[in-house]
Amino acid sequence: MAKKTTMFCCTSCGHENQKWLGRCPGCSEWNTLEEVSAVPARRKATKTGALSPVALNEIPALSEERFVTAINEFDRVLGGGMVSGSVVLLGGDPGIGKSTLLLQATARLAAKTNVLYASGEESLRQLKMRADRLDINQSFQTAAITDLDILLETVNTVKPSVLVVDSVQSIYRGEIGGVPGSVSQVREVTGELVRMAKESNIAVFLVGHVTKEGAMAGPRLLEHMVDCVLYLEGDRYQSFRILRGVKNRFGSTNEIGVFLMESEGLKEVSNPSHLFITQNREQAPGAVITASIEGTRPLLVEIQSLVAPTYYPSPRRTSSGIDLNRVALVLAVLEKHAGISFFGLDTFVNVVGGVRLFEPTADLALALSLTSSLKGESLNGDTVVVGEMGLTGEIRPVSRIRQRFNEAAKLGFKRLILPEANRAELKKDSNEFNNFQLIGVGSIKEAIKASFLKRL
Ligand code: TYD
Ligand code: MG
Repeated sequence: MAKKTTMFCCTSCGHENQKWLGRCPGCSEWNTLEEVSAVPARRKATKTGALSPVALNEIPALSEERFVTAINEFDRVLGGGMVSGSVVLLGGDPGIGKSTLLLQATARLAAKTNVLYASGEESLRQLKMRADRLDINQSFQTAAITDLDILLETVNTVKPSVLVVDSVQSIYRGEIGGVPGSVSQVREVTGELVRMAKESNIAVFLVGHVTKEGAMAGPRLLEHMVDCVLYLEGDRYQSFRILRGVKNRFGSTNEIGVFLMESEGLKEVSNPSHLFITQNREQAPGAVITASIEGTRPLLVEIQSLVAPTYYPSPRRTSSGIDLNRVALVLAVLEKHAGISFFGLDTFVNVVGGVRLFEPTADLALALSLTSSLKGESLNGDTVVVGEMGLTGEIRPVSRIRQRFNEAAKLGFKRLILPEANRAELKKDSNEFNNFQLIGVGSIKEAIKASFLKRL
């Protein structure tokens, strides 16, 4: 019997299956399996012959070569620059600023090393127009390429240290079926570029668009193939952008980089706290500010809640920026341990500026924000709140309280509601708080008492 030469691959999670199925067994998404050619897999399998293993201590030590772009926000998210021989995938919605960021980074890199910028989306004239707009004077090699084999050939000739491919969805290989951007094409292109990066020790930046369902294979599919995955996020209608690492073989994934998109490209924001706080803070029930730590940097962010009567049989619970399960937990603790009921009420939670909070240290701020909206009573505008909440309503201490306190003080806040254990820790360190009021709390009940005048 002839061997099957096609199989099916999920565009969402990369799961492979021999047969087509309506629902992916890997991620349970519907209609995501797409036919791909199984040829590349067979081609690799024909290589035979045993390798002789090498003892770990006999592998020559390689000093990690890093290319630094000198755009601090970018280098920090990369873990201290780009490692040679590695592949970095930069994902994000179309139009969010991926090409702009890479063009700016390329210009900086080109001052120190040999860079090739391969554009599959824009013509070289468009690239030049953008470079002029960004006021880039540094010259580097560019090429408009959409064919994978021509790209590989060009890289072999030019021998750059850093290669930028914008974007993975615009490159294709003729023998593989499917239009550019389809699962089989994107996998093939990425696979070849990863192989080339390792063999020739070239650092590769790969741009990948995230598009709404189906039309193109999203970068999600490629995450396991590359060394480092960064996402550029933000609201297209607002000017700031957040660069977030979600996978990094050479550094931490907690770091974020913050930029502002201006008429001359992306500008770094080295002190981003003030961006995520509404300037007119007084008299806004439902708004509470917390000090979160993203990677190595403290960041003040504002959580907003709206609690309103529901007109549905079951109330709505929506949240953006905080996990909905976390919100459900906080609501349950408030109900059980503070006697505050959200029965028959819709709750909407939002973190200002499209920031996402993963730390449980935002629990107490979330609880006070929900309570504040329910009571219709605002928290004092000079207050920052930190603390993790346990299931029994106790407020647990948080790490790196000193850093959080310093950030709050630096931005002119005057009060910090924090776990009692943290207050004691801060007091032990020093007695110099310059009229800054520290309010230590041990339970959610105490925290509510300390925050609001009105009783429910
Ligand atoms: P772009 O980098 O082309 O996005 P992507 O590569 O992710 O698709 O960015 C496009 C948007 O950025 C476009 O809407 C215009 C805006 N922009 C600026 O605001 N300032 C600039 O200096 C540049 C180059 C673009
Ligand atoms: Mg682009």
